Amino acid sequence: MKTVNSGIIEISTLGDNRGNLSVIESLIHVPFEIKRVFYIYATKEGVRRGFHAHHKTRQALISVAGSCKIHLDNAIRKEEVLLDSPNKILILEPNDWHEMYDFSNDCVLLVLASELYDSEDYIRDYDEFLKVYSKSVQEV
Ligand code: TYD
Repeated sequence: MKTVNSGIIEISTLGDNRGNLSVIESLIHVPFEIKRVFYIYATKEGVRRGFHAHHKTRQALISVAGSCKIHLDNAIRKEEVLLDSPNKILILEPNDWHEMYDFSNDCVLLVLASELYDSEDYIRDYDEFLKVYSKSVQEV
């Protein structure tokens, strides 16, 4: 499944008769240095969250348990991505407006980020997002 301008990376599973093990290393399995990790879980039914893009932060999303969907919008194209495997990593670029939804009850969505938390790095207004990114994406 190809995304707008990001991508799904499949990581291999180091499994044996004890079970599975997956590994993600900075600059090897994700294309940035990981400075922050957070996870979203026990999400209530019907909740949709996110609704933002970033100026600088790149992120990698992994549904380590359960599943959820991600709505992506890079100001030109929109796409829906299903995260339903601990081996699927979705890379989000700063210009990917994203919304997360359809969380299964058991979903644990792990997020690896390239920057420390900074509320100034968020673009939470959709019109501002279009202003910042629609031109730059067309020029690419
Ligand atoms: P929020 O940005 O609202 O989550 P979402 O975009 O998924 O809806 O984050 C919820 C709260 O957590 C908000 O008060 C900001 C805070 N927060 C941090 O302090 N550090 C972080 O790394 C993140 C992601 C959020």
